[in-house]
Parts: sequence; structure tokens; C-alpha cells
Amino acid sequence: SCFSEEYRPQFHFTPENNWMNDPNGLVYHDGVYHIFYQHNPNGTTWGYMSWGHAISTDLVHWKHLPIALEYEVDSNGNLMEMFYSGSAVVDVNNTSGFAVSISKDWKGNDIFSQPMVAIYTSCYPTARTASKGLVIRQGQQSQSIAFSNDNGLTWTKYDGNPIIPSPPPEYADQYNQFRDPFVFWHTPSMKWIMVASLAMKQILLIYSSNNLKDWTLESQFGPHNARFGEWECPSLFPLYVDDNPVAEKWVILIGINPGGVIAGSGTQSIIGSFDGKSFVADRSDVYDPAEVPFGSTVFQDFESTSSTFEELGWTATGDFVGSGPQKASTVNAGKVMGYLGNGIMTTYLLGNGGTGTIMSPKFTIRLDYISFLIAGGYYPYNPDTAGTPEDNQVSINLVVAGKIVHSQTGTNTENLVWRSWNVAGWVGQEAYLVVTDFNTGPSAHIHVDEIVFSDCPKDEANWNDFGPDYYAAATFNGLPTSERIAIGWMNNWAYANNIPTSTWRGAMSIPRILSLKTINNKIRLVQQPVSSLSTLYTSTLYSRNFSALECGETKVSIPAPYNARMKVVLKFTQGGGTKFGVILCSNATNTQETVIGYDFLGQNIFVDRFKSGKCSFVDSERNAFPGYFIATMPTKPTDVIEINILLDWSSVEVFDGQGQVALTSQIFPLEHNATQVKLFSEGGPTRSVSVSIDGINSVWN
Ligand code: FRU
Repeated sequence: SCFSEEYRPQFHFTPENNWMNDPNGLVYHDGVYHIFYQHNPNGTTWGYMSWGHAISTDLVHWKHLPIALEYEVDSNGNLMEMFYSGSAVVDVNNTSGFAVSISKDWKGNDIFSQPMVAIYTSCYPTARTASKGLVIRQGQQSQSIAFSNDNGLTWTKYDGNPIIPSPPPEYADQYNQFRDPFVFWHTPSMKWIMVASLAMKQILLIYSSNNLKDWTLESQFGPHNARFGEWECPSLFPLYVDDNPVAEKWVILIGINPGGVIAGSGTQSIIGSFDGKSFVADRSDVYDPAEVPFGSTVFQDFESTSSTFEELGWTATGDFVGSGPQKASTVNAGKVMGYLGNGIMTTYLLGNGGTGTIMSPKFTIRLDYISFLIAGGYYPYNPDTAGTPEDNQVSINLVVAGKIVHSQTGTNTENLVWRSWNVAGWVGQEAYLVVTDFNTGPSAHIHVDEIVFSDCPKDEANWNDFGPDYYAAATFNGLPTSERIAIGWMNNWAYANNIPTSTWRGAMSIPRILSLKTINNKIRLVQQPVSSLSTLYTSTLYSRNFSALECGETKVSIPAPYNARMKVVLKFTQGGGTKFGVILCSNATNTQETVIGYDFLGQNIFVDRFKSGKCSFVDSERNAFPGYFIATMPTKPTDVIEINILLDWSSVEVFDGQGQVALTSQIFPLEHNATQVKLFSEGGPTRSVSVSIDGINSVWN
């Protein structure tokens, strides 16, 4: 590959060909960063999982190496073993005994290699009896190891595999949901530590070992905070708080799928302590529903979908047909996104050219967020619409103390909106939700399809990234405590197999330096792009200060190819407007655009990819791709707010100046006309604006 196909990232890691998901075995050794990754050598969708491999000396330029661990088939071609996610260490002291003599010193004594050891999940698709009589069940997930004595180039599987065949007896039924071992050397206890996940139980198992082969279960952790999905790809590592080596904390990162911040895949972090045996979350890092007043009395556990809105006290007015509000089960059974937790779902059908409004019962705002999912509009699979595209608009409004305080509108296929609104300012006040659906089309039905509403914060976790595309984050072994670097898979299982790229599929995030900083009296995991990225910046292409940027749009001219890959730095202060930011990859009329900015009312950084280009490549009945994503970041009216953006053709990564929030989102602009850059201020001016844009050079040529 020449790495120049449509949408091919130019400074993010991608496999040469074919499918990639999670980063695996991140390890730094002898001046070289190794990345292994979940890889299908045979195609551009998930399957035949193997470990791909590449190396780098600066974390931005990568050299692809041969596959490290390749899936196995038997003589009949049946798939026998796949290599799922895991980690790698360098066994400097040869605790494993895997080292070999590589030369002799002048006395004739052996000089030994330092074996690199990969710890991964063996997934066995076929039941069988393995060596030593080990019975393997279909779909079993066990932990195994392999070693390399040539710095990761070639690998030998340990003949005692699997080293942990199954979870402990009390979780025996989880034999096929036990995976993703992250191993590191714990200096204080002089032991190897492993964290592995019981995915469906949202439990992490912590083991210790002296030799990487024999493991002792020490403790378990979880469920904790975000738990509305499978827990995958955990990691555990220390960091210094505010760069102070005597203030060490431990951090757990966990992938959650589905049930992430925008309902698909997401990554949460938990800060606490670790003594070599068990992890204890800091009190300030507990957001468990059990510990926080959960939900209102109106919206309780309706995952069974057995209730209609009417039964729940909603009222409907307008041109609804038939018997009015329908039970979800009669129209749309099985479509509930139950993992969102407390919620309700039902369907309304509107007559041709009709308008309808539904109104929730009044409730008291109790927590800082209100979260909901609403879908409405054209659904091709529904017999009522018979596949006719419709012209309809759904608007959802939150009314507090008689005033609309939040509002969102969508049209036609923009029919799925996940939102989490900050209502911190209104705790204790009475509120209700109003959803209106208009159909202006000539002969069609429209309907609001689903509403999942809850006043339990979906933001009940420290989200590592508030965008839809940062998952399975892993960190490097082999670096000092103060240099913890993470890489995430820049994708989401909700549509990963469908994104519109060919020859390869899947990209990694920019490597991110992690640290712990005290911000507003809370210790936060902050992240910044790795500093070597700056070696790719061009000289500044645009730099301007405005004492006030008036309401409206200001065009910025950035030449190709940098209009598709650039770094944008925005600094600004509130000046009467409601939103400020930058429009990327847009055309002249803004029918195509990716909008990134700050919402002064909502107090959040947002990324809007509703009109970002190709948006409907994933199953048409639930278009999970388009969306509006927010990261709440409260500011004061006089604050200088900073937003840093990395655009790389098919992705944007957005960080605030301190790195306390990140938002990562894929986009697929239609290249031929979506090349414009515009600054905007909405609802009034924005003060003290400074904008600086650098191009970013390709690492491939
Ligand atoms: C996470 C994951 C892991 C698993 C791997 C399989 O994205 O589901 O739990 O090991 O992908 O490819």
C-alpha cells in the first residue's frame, strides 16, 4: 500500500491492509516502541484474529513488520485458535526461563537474551481435547503466553498454554467471556500482575505471578461506575499526581461496549490505590448508582418495554393515528437499547401530514445530567413507511421552570440523537420533556420511535474520551512512571465493520501522554497528544487575532493537502454569543460540515458530525453514525478557553487546553467539495479570539 487511498489517515497508525481493532502488547524496549494489534489478515471485517505488529522510534512514523501471532486452523481448515487482545512485557530478569544464550563473554559465560513475552487471550472456536487431556469448550477464552528472543520479530507459543484456562469456579459459566490480560511488573512486590476481564460481569480479576506461567488470583474489582455494557481491555498503572513522585495514584482504564458515553463503545478511567493485591477506588471516584440517588420515581426500570407512555403518565396531543400511543412490543419489539439503563421505549404513529406532541410527566431534577435517546422519522424497515423517505422534523425540548433550557432538532435520517444535557444549574427544579414531530411530506407516516430517558447521569463515570471513537485504550509497558502513553482504537463497535474505507479498516488514535492533575479540587486523568507529533507540523498557515469575532462566519483559506490534515488552536473568551468554534471539511453552503466548538450556555465542547459527509453506511434502521457529542467543561465568563483540534482526513481529535477532556470522532467528508474552513460565532460575538492553524505532514511520504 502507498497509504494514499481515500480517507487513509496520514499521521495516525493504520495497518497496511485489512482489518484492525484493539492495540495490543504496547511495549517500549531498547529505544523502540512496539505496537501489536488485533488484525484479520484475510479481510476488511473482523475475523481470523491475529496479532499484527509494527515498530516506531518516535510514535508517529511506523514500520510494519510480519504478523506476530497468526490464527490457527487444523488440517481440515477448521479455525482452532484466535489471538485476542492482550499485552507484552520484556522479561529483563528471565523470570520465565524463556531467555536463550545469544553469545559468550570473554570468560566463556553465556550472555542471555531478554525475552519479550506476549500475554493474550486464546479464543477457541472449536471444542476439543487439547494436550495433557485439557478439555476445551467451544468459544472458550483462556489466557496464554508466547515469547520472542529476537525483539518481537518471531514468536514461540509456550507449550504449557493456556496458562489460565478458565475463570475461578464461582464464575465457571463465564468461560467464554474471560479475556484481555494486561500484565506489568510491580516493583514493590517484585511480582508480575495481571488484570483480566470477566466481560459480561463487569468484573476485573487481578492475578500475580513470579514467572509469567503460574498465576494466583489475588482479588477482583467491579462492577464500578459505567457498567451498562461488557467490560473489555482493562489496564492498571501508576501515575504521579501533579508530577509529585510521592503522590502516586493508580489508574484503571476499561473499555465498555455498548454503554459508553454515547451508548456504543467507550472508555472509562477510575483513580484509586493498588497494593500489589487489590485495587481500591478513591471515594471521589465512585459514581455508582447505589451510592448516588438514582433515577426519578417516574422513570424506573422499563427495560422490558411493557409500558406505554400513557401508562407512564405521558400525554399525547396531535394527529396520532390508530389507538394512539402504541406499546413498543406491538411495533418494534426487540429494538430497545436496554443497556442505556433505566429507560422507556414506545412508538407513536402520526397520520399523513400530521403533527404530534408528547409531553412527559413533571419530575424534579436531581442530578447534574439528563440523558436520553430519541429516534424518530423515516424507518425503511417499518411497514408503515413502506420504504418511502419522509420529510419530517423531530424536536426535543427540556422545559425547566416554564422555560425551554435545552433543545435539539433532527430531520429525516438524522433520527437518532443521543444527548446528555447538563442540568446542574437546575437541580431541585421541576422539569418536563416535550417532543414534537412534524410531517410535511405529502403521503407518509412519521413516528417517534424510541425515547430512552433517565435522570440518572449516563455521565456516571470518568469518561476518558467523550467522542464516539476511542476504544480499547492500552498503555505502554517499559516506560518510567511519569511517561505513561496510551493509544486507543479510533472506532466504535456500533459501526466499525461498516466504515467506508477499502483495502484497510480501522485506525489508532494519536498516542496520548497521560498524567494526573488536580483541577477544581478533583484529581483528573488528563491527556495530550505525544510531543513528537510537532515534528510533522508545517509552518503556520493561518494566524489571526480578533478583539471580537462578530456573529456569523469567517472564511479561512488553507491550501490542499493541509485542508484535510491540520492542527487548529482556538483561544477565546465569552462575548455575548452562545457558541464559538470552527467548521471543517465543509462546502460553500454548509450542507456538508464538521462543526467543533464551545457552547457557552451548555458549558461544553462539542463535535457535530451530523453533516460530516458519508453518514449512513451502517444499518439503515438505526443509523448509529451521525451525532452531536459533548464534553462538559464548565468555565467562567472571563476565562480564556482553549481548544486544540487534530484533523486527519477521516478523523478529528479534540482536546481542551489542559487536556482534561478529549473528544474523538471519525468523519468521512466527500472530498471533492468539502475542503473549506470557517470560524463562527453564533448568537452574538465572541471576544479575544486567537486562531492558529498548522498543516500536518504525512508520515508515509
Ligand atoms: C475489544 C475486543 C476484546 C477482544 C477483541 C477481539 O474490542 O472485543 O475484548 O479481545 O476485541 O478482537
